[in-house]
Amino acid sequence: MAVRPDTPEYALDLSEAERMRYREMAKRARVQEGERWQRYGVVPGARIADVGCGPGAVLVALAEVVGPNGSVTGVEPNATARAAALEEIRSSGLDNATVVAGDGTATTLDPGTYDVVMIRHVLFHVGDAVQAVLAHAVTLLRPGGHVYTVDVDLTGRRLSVSDADFDEQAQRYVEFQRDRGNNVDIGPKLGPLLAEAGLELRDHEGTIQKVPGEFLRLGGPMVAARHEMLAAGAITEDDARRYDAATQRVAATPNAALFVSQYIAVGRKG
Ligand SMILES: C[S@@+](CC[C@H](N)C(=O)[O-])C[C@H]1O[C@@H](n2cnc3c(N)ncnc32)[C@H](O)[C@@H]1O
Repeated sequence: MAVRPDTPEYALDLSEAERMRYREMAKRARVQEGERWQRYGVVPGARIADVGCGPGAVLVALAEVVGPNGSVTGVEPNATARAAALEEIRSSGLDNATVVAGDGTATTLDPGTYDVVMIRHVLFHVGDAVQAVLAHAVTLLRPGGHVYTVDVDLTGRRLSVSDADFDEQAQRYVEFQRDRGNNVDIGPKLGPLLAEAGLELRDHEGTIQKVPGEFLRLGGPMVAARHEMLAAGAITEDDARRYDAATQRVAATPNAALFVSQYIAVGRKG
């Protein structure tokens, strides 16, 4: 997903497969990060802002953790993603979560009232507004609250099997994102960025995330960006067909997996 909110050229792929992929990622985040969430304030009764909540899968997971005495407010500039997030909340049956329209640089949320501001896979998309998003997040926190960021380094990915077309697809995707000003290698920079925003850096870790074949078959960011890449002339229809075939081929190869570097950084407001 890229930042072209609510503009005609912005085609967010939120097919059922893509929403399923978001739910799987949220499930994984909860398992892998549950203790970290708790350490930094995602606990029953907490008040959380989820900036750039997308289709809301993590937002719902957070709302389940904070429970009926807590609340989660998603902020999302893209109308399609907002509608998906509202539907995700509705079908979860939770009544402690909501989504509002807004940009991470200037939300309309109450300043100084949040225990945690979650910013997951968003700073990748905001170009040179990274510090503006973080500075705004700091204003939303109460003293002692945490900004919790997660992002990737797309230049650090590895495929477990050899497939020249798949590699070409991944390379072209990274170049496309970099050319349009996205922060393709922001993950390892998150720690210093939080410190520059005036927070006390409490945590900065990197992990390799495994994306198994069955996940690749669901599509993912490379497929979600296909339409935009075609529209921008970054790939041809022939390339797209070749990349689709490569994705299905890799997904069907026993033990195929993509390994992607992901980083978490957390800063505390003094
Ligand atoms: C890859 S999705 C991540 C969704 C969710 N945080 C998650 O981890 O599942 C990135 C989201 O950031 C949103 N976004 C992009 N630019 C933004 C901005 N300036 N402020 C807030 N959200 C933004 C996009 O609309 C998109 O929904």
